[in-house]
Amino acid sequence: MITIKSKREIELLRVAGNIVYKTHQYLKPYLKPGITTQEIDDLADKYIRSQGAIPSCKGYNGFPAAICISVNEEVVHGIAGPKKLQDGDIVTLDICACYKGYHGDSAWSYKIGKVDEEKEHLMKHTEKALFVGLKEVKPGNRIGDIGSAVYDYATSKGLGVVRELCGHGVGSNLHEDPEIPNYGTPNTGPRIKEGMVFAVEPMLTAKSPNIEILDDDWTVVTEDHHPAAHFEHTVVVTKDGYEILTGE
Ligand code: MF3
Ligand code: CO
Repeated sequence: MITIKSKREIELLRVAGNIVYKTHQYLKPYLKPGITTQEIDDLADKYIRSQGAIPSCKGYNGFPAAICISVNEEVVHGIAGPKKLQDGDIVTLDICACYKGYHGDSAWSYKIGKVDEEKEHLMKHTEKALFVGLKEVKPGNRIGDIGSAVYDYATSKGLGVVRELCGHGVGSNLHEDPEIPNYGTPNTGPRIKEGMVFAVEPMLTAKSPNIEILDDDWTVVTEDHHPAAHFEHTVVVTKDGYEILTGE
């Protein structure tokens, strides 16, 4: 069931989303060669709690860390540990925070120092693909319009679209209906209505879109070990478009 959020709920979702945004801004200066993913996770955990929220990922289906930190060929759900960031890496921070029972969810990929051309291309066009998808978010359009736009854009840039992972509704649950795949057919799927809240999140790969899961049962990696990128915003559908909740 896709719910329409009340004014009060949207206000709480806006606060949660803003905490997620501020956590990204807080962490950005720390993303330098030598820092471990565990240190990043600890900083995120403390910061989210300092804002009166809790990290939604911790304990979610048993996930052990505060946020998801995925490096290079890791697509999503990377678990913090002793790994040190290195010059030339890309690192994705997927941050979810729960404020007074409502969630915000935003992932962003960051470059560490200078990255190669493959990563430059991937980063630039995955971020663009997010906004190409968001452009379809308006009352009257349908969910298939979003995925179709993302897919066409991504493939036109030679990037792979991960099909096993989707965007989703957001509310008092981190994952709600509808599922928002990064592929689809225009003018199909549920109709988009004012007051719906969802996360649009292209997860794109530099080469093959095929993925596998590591032995930790969480970390999703590309099968060919080429890099992946991930950009995600939680948005609320407005009268004629959308408002980003995980922004300033
Ligand atoms: N933003 C991630 C997602 O939508 C959140 C994952 S929480 C985790 O899948 F606990 F599953 F990692
Ligand atoms: Co998400």
